[in-house]
Amino acid sequence: MTATPLSSARILLVVGGGIAAYKSLELIRRLRDHGTTVRVVMTAAAKHFITPLSAATLSGEPVRDELFSLTDESLIGHIELSRAADLVVVAPATANLLARMAGGLADDLATTLLLATDKRTLVAPAMNVRMWEHAATQRNVERLKADGVLFVGPEAGPMACGEFGPGRLAEPPAIIEAIERALAAGALLDDWRPRSRGPLSGRHVIVTSGPTYEPIDPVRFLGNRSSGRQGHAIAQAALSADARVTLVSGPVSLPDPIGATVIHVETAVEMRAAVEAALPADAFIGAAAVADWRVETVAGAKIKKGDRGSPTVRLVENPDILAEICNNKASRPAVVIGFAAETEDVAANASAKLHRKGCDLIVANSVAKGTSTFGGATNQVQLIDAKGAESWPSMSKADVADRIIRRLAVELSKRQ
Ligand code: CTP
Repeated sequence: MTATPLSSARILLVVGGGIAAYKSLELIRRLRDHGTTVRVVMTAAAKHFITPLSAATLSGEPVRDELFSLTDESLIGHIELSRAADLVVVAPATANLLARMAGGLADDLATTLLLATDKRTLVAPAMNVRMWEHAATQRNVERLKADGVLFVGPEAGPMACGEFGPGRLAEPPAIIEAIERALAAGALLDDWRPRSRGPLSGRHVIVTSGPTYEPIDPVRFLGNRSSGRQGHAIAQAALSADARVTLVSGPVSLPDPIGATVIHVETAVEMRAAVEAALPADAFIGAAAVADWRVETVAGAKIKKGDRGSPTVRLVENPDILAEICNNKASRPAVVIGFAAETEDVAANASAKLHRKGCDLIVANSVAKGTSTFGGATNQVQLIDAKGAESWPSMSKADVADRIIRRLAVELSKRQ
């Protein structure tokens, strides 16, 4: 089975008590087919429609239904249960369950979990059409949406009660599609609560980060000390400002920022190809420490110590990704920001780099011996534009990233 967001996901499925509860069994089966871990919690009413045994058999996990169960609580507490999931799915959600959720009640295990979770919740309502259309239900739905709860369905059609209209549970494939979308957008509740749109909303930002590794032979490479922390922090700050972010990263030991499209590369040539493929963009930020040279002829087999003495490695120049982006007539991003790692005359060298490469801003830092730029948590930079240099105090890489992104937003709005 190929790895997908679904195959590694852990879903907490709350089954409410409605005639559509039987479809939750199919949902469990299909999720399991994708490799998803599904833990099921049933309301008391749900047990009138399906048995805990069927849900446990299909999910391969014990089913929980009691808030005050001494055996269950000693195995895994209800708070932990609500947080050990990537997503909470309520299917079917009855009118009663929606009302209890909207009111913040915690009078059984299901509602207690829904209140205690720090993860997003996806709700698939199912009820009689009049119940769905009732002002009270609609009010509850609006309130839950305002709280950031996601909805899939209900669908319109003939109902078990003989009436016709909206109220049918969304079909399992549609619920699974909604689960995939929810997982792709990030896991934490705070990340998706509705809020005002960030200053980079609607913008596409490409960020390069980390070092490049230039192979010498199958086991050796030329690299550098970049950790990728500054570049990844910039990608994260751009995401927080609501940008669509493509992060092209060299080999680093950092997690991928949630919500970014991350392309992992090794060499400068691969990095250039990934950046070009990600265009067009509103902004490009080149934070990677791209190797200036690569080995002209990479040995196909490991170079051995032999009697021919030490090997000579001939280097050829790598493409300058930043300069190429600046001079890309067809699709130069509106704002291009480069970095300059200098060991001496930081401002003067960086300013020369700005003009030589043709970028709009340069973030210059000293990588002289004794500085914490490479691998450290803090950074002390100067921001250079065509008019001059601005020195920023030493601050965390996350704060440097935030300031760069705020400045980017200003530059972009000037160019509109
Ligand atoms: N850069 C790039 N491609 C390269 C080399 C550098 O895109 N082949 C980018 C870096 O991502 C950074 C900027 O250019 O944004 C400056 O990198 P730096 O290493 O400081 O400068 P160089 O151009 O390599 O110049 P020098 O080593 O001579 O200082």
